Amino acid sequence: MLPSSTYMLYKGYLLPTLAHTTESLEFAQNFPVEDTDVFVVTYPKSGTIWMQEIIPLVLNGGDLTPIQTIPNWDRVPWLEEKRLACVVDQLKSPRALVSHLPYKLMPPSFHASKAKVIYVIRNPKDVMVSSYYFHQMAGFLPDPGTFEEFMDKFLEGEVMFGKWTEHVKSWKNTELGDRILYITYEEMVQDLPAAVRKLSGFVGSNLSEDVIQKIAEHCSFHTMKVNRMSNFSLIPKLYMDSEKSPFLRKGIAGDWENHFSPEQLAKFTSVIRKELENESFSLPWCLD
Ligand code: A3P
Repeated sequence: MLPSSTYMLYKGYLLPTLAHTTESLEFAQNFPVEDTDVFVVTYPKSGTIWMQEIIPLVLNGGDLTPIQTIPNWDRVPWLEEKRLACVVDQLKSPRALVSHLPYKLMPPSFHASKAKVIYVIRNPKDVMVSSYYFHQMAGFLPDPGTFEEFMDKFLEGEVMFGKWTEHVKSWKNTELGDRILYITYEEMVQDLPAAVRKLSGFVGSNLSEDVIQKIAEHCSFHTMKVNRMSNFSLIPKLYMDSEKSPFLRKGIAGDWENHFSPEQLAKFTSVIRKELENESFSLPWCLD
């Protein structure tokens, strides 16, 4: 049986206690960020583990060793999770880390550094659908209830890392200038080699076209789904039960259309639109 306290509250955000502790969050706050570090930042279910596959290969010129030998959570660890303290000394420079933290909770050393950020943004309707299934398979998260009930929780921000709109706003309104690259999950689905090319240009790794194609091939949904280092099959069933729903579930854009009723779509759209109405940025997809 899992402990009943699924979440801890950290500066107003719900975080799963399985991976986060007061110590891990303190470790993150004191983490000495290096100028060469690359952070992948996402709201959960936006393509985090996909980037944990792609970025090491982009940084190392396409050597497949890390994705074939190191589980994703050790290969590109989460800044805020317990595991980082155990593996930090094994990370090769340039280091790659992932984070779900909002911008304001990044450590002081990050702001003082020249570290780069790749922010992956995904259509919130698909994020919500993905999260709904994830809550069914993840034994360390509360039961999502019905789809309708989960939508209410999602829109209220009563889920891990709070509201989707707040996360996006926090990372869209930064002073990072050319230190941050925005990329959509949808453009990765549509043309992965083009996305890898963009990432390679951003981190300055100058990959050849052959290497770009090789990375795209090895980071495809179908290849990742059978990679034991990336599909979470190394995690006990108690924590992640892929028979309920696999972590690599569908890997497509637009699955929300199979889930939202017209009423749910209207409600979802109006809440998201209202929360973003005074923002200067626009979303890369139509919300309707
Ligand atoms: P779905 O549940 O819609 O399939 P995160 O890693 O942030 O938790 O995001 C998980 C989502 O990314 C899941 O979405 C998962 O299938 C998708 N994903 C992971 N690797 C992918 C890949 N190679 N191609 C497409 N989608 C991928």
